Amino acid sequence: MITKAVLPVAGLGTRFLPASKAIPKEMLPIIDKPLVQYAVEEAIEIGIKDIIFITSPEKDSIEKHFKKNNKIEKKLKQSGRDKYISKLNPKIFSDIQFHYLNQENQNGLGHAILQAEKLIGDESFAVLLPDDLFFSKKSCLSQLLEIYSNKKSSVIAVNKIDKENIHRYGVIKPGLVKDEVIQIDDIIEKPSATKAPSDMAVCGRYILSSKIFKHLKSTEFDKFGEIQLTDAIRSLLNDEKIFAKVYDGEKFDCGSKQGFVHATIALALRDETISDDIIKIIKEID
Ligand code: G1P
Repeated sequence: MITKAVLPVAGLGTRFLPASKAIPKEMLPIIDKPLVQYAVEEAIEIGIKDIIFITSPEKDSIEKHFKKNNKIEKKLKQSGRDKYISKLNPKIFSDIQFHYLNQENQNGLGHAILQAEKLIGDESFAVLLPDDLFFSKKSCLSQLLEIYSNKKSSVIAVNKIDKENIHRYGVIKPGLVKDEVIQIDDIIEKPSATKAPSDMAVCGRYILSSKIFKHLKSTEFDKFGEIQLTDAIRSLLNDEKIFAKVYDGEKFDCGSKQGFVHATIALALRDETISDDIIKIIKEID
């Protein structure tokens, strides 16, 4: 059973300035829901009870967002707008513990995950990178959980990426494949296209054994002064098997403007309350 999830959200969001100056990038909405909430819902859906944000003091609006707001709930009731209450204070959040850990220096994804060590203890846990937004019948995390339940080992979501973009990701060297479960032989962070061991790139969902912390602690800073989670996973391979699954579904990279707009359009077209209007608007632009 996986009950804890870590969501790193301390990044500066420079690609979204000036929007991300006063509003954390993770709080920018795709239609009417902040980006980070999609990842939180995906985690809760598989039974996560503790959501651990690795955050920074400037991002207090994330904490505000996931707290119950009784004051506005009362106002909605008084004005007969009860139907909005489930959006304001979703029931699924009511038995979830939200934790906020400050990452004082932003020294990379591995450094961010390391902050959660005490709260995680010796359990396996999920990591969700909220920039990556996934849509599928069975969520990306539940696809990983299925494999974890069988193997009781770390498991990582990957997807196929073309050569021109492979240098932006962690890339696995696949080993044995059985029933669509890939045993990882090696993993490299952001290799050049010529050095990439495959076209299978790590996307933002992981289930990791708590042994990763030991490896994070001995991982050296890379040439950009960051501790990479991928390097620690590579070192963990010396201790235990790690598996990968080619994610079956749609993925939007909302860390880029193009991906963010793509996700917005795709979701708008699926939202019955606005899709007809959106189609009209897009046709008019044409
Ligand atoms: C991080 C990871 C990388 C992974 C990517 C997925 O990179 O370091 O291995 O492929 O997320 O989105 P970042 O996007 O933070 O540079």
